Amino acid sequence: MKRFNVAVLPGDGIGPEIVGEALKVMKAVGKKFSTEFVAAEALVGGASIDAYGKPLTDEVLKLALGSDAVLLGAVGGPKWEGLDYSIRPERALLALRKELGLFANLRPAKIYDELIDASTLKPEVIEGVDLLVVRELTGGLYFGTPKGVEKLPDGTERGVNTMVYTTPEIERIARVGFEVARKRGKKLCSVDKANVLETTELWRKVVINVGKEYPDVELSHMYVDNCSMQLIRNPRQFDVIVTENTFGDILSDEASMLTGSIGMLPSASIGSDKNRAMYEPIHGSAPDIAGKGIANPIATILSAAMMLKYSFDMNEASDLIEGAVERVLARGFRTADIMQPGKTRVSCVEMGAAVLKELGN
Ligand code: IPM
Ligand code: MG
Repeated sequence: MKRFNVAVLPGDGIGPEIVGEALKVMKAVGKKFSTEFVAAEALVGGASIDAYGKPLTDEVLKLALGSDAVLLGAVGGPKWEGLDYSIRPERALLALRKELGLFANLRPAKIYDELIDASTLKPEVIEGVDLLVVRELTGGLYFGTPKGVEKLPDGTERGVNTMVYTTPEIERIARVGFEVARKRGKKLCSVDKANVLETTELWRKVVINVGKEYPDVELSHMYVDNCSMQLIRNPRQFDVIVTENTFGDILSDEASMLTGSIGMLPSASIGSDKNRAMYEPIHGSAPDIAGKGIANPIATILSAAMMLKYSFDMNEASDLIEGAVERVLARGFRTADIMQPGKTRVSCVEMGAAVLKELGN
């Protein structure tokens, strides 16, 4: 029996509901492969603020650092929006990414044939879309200094954030981009704003240099504004996109809507240490539907599938989960966010149960 320790951080809003279903799926699949996932659950984000006065306690950070992987739900909500930035729920997420050294965030956006009509875009535009956004996760505008809001003598205020990258930071994220492109369609599009922002001029130069090590991968460059347009104009042109933290945050939300719902998109955050990784849906805590039992657990279930693949080398088990999700959709089960006429509307727990059933449970 193999054993893996997983830090489970459900967080806020719909977090506990969706993580609960993903855990059930993981455990069921583990059994088939004589693997036990030992889940250690802890509070993070707003839930941690309510209990301990801060979004991420040292204990929980230690738990995450000491586990084989982290499964996270979502953090944040209106209840904590008035707090100072330094203790907002979102800080927990940023601190975990930084402390675990997770500089690369992989966000695949793949169309399920079954959901083509659930997208707001025309079927002929999105059919066959299968792309991956590689988002830099521990640098850029999110982390650069100086940052903050200061009071000026005239009584007004000045807010500042800094987009900053060093050569090594760009090199390592570029390598992740090239490596994953090599395993997929061998096309990498580096997204920047090199016509205006100096830091991304450096980004482009460094990516081109790293690209010399990957002659088998076709490298292209695109400005971020154009990319946001191309994503809805002709998304099939993309295989792998590699980009700055904030650009990646925005473009991955956009890419998610190609697939019909942000409730479908998983993500993996990885670094150079294979024993450190975090898996989470790309969507947020959806406070408006929290506690109603109607959230879509698929993004989190697919995040668990990514964990099995990237952290535990359990490719077959991971494929089993993905296959089960596909079949559940083919059977017509839909949560509210992807509901279509003539399909069967199910709750969060029912969706989890349907996936479990496909897995033979
Ligand atoms: C994401 C989210 C987070 C981010 C928030 C919740 C801090 O939007 O993972 O995309 O901005 O990175
Ligand atoms: Mg985001």
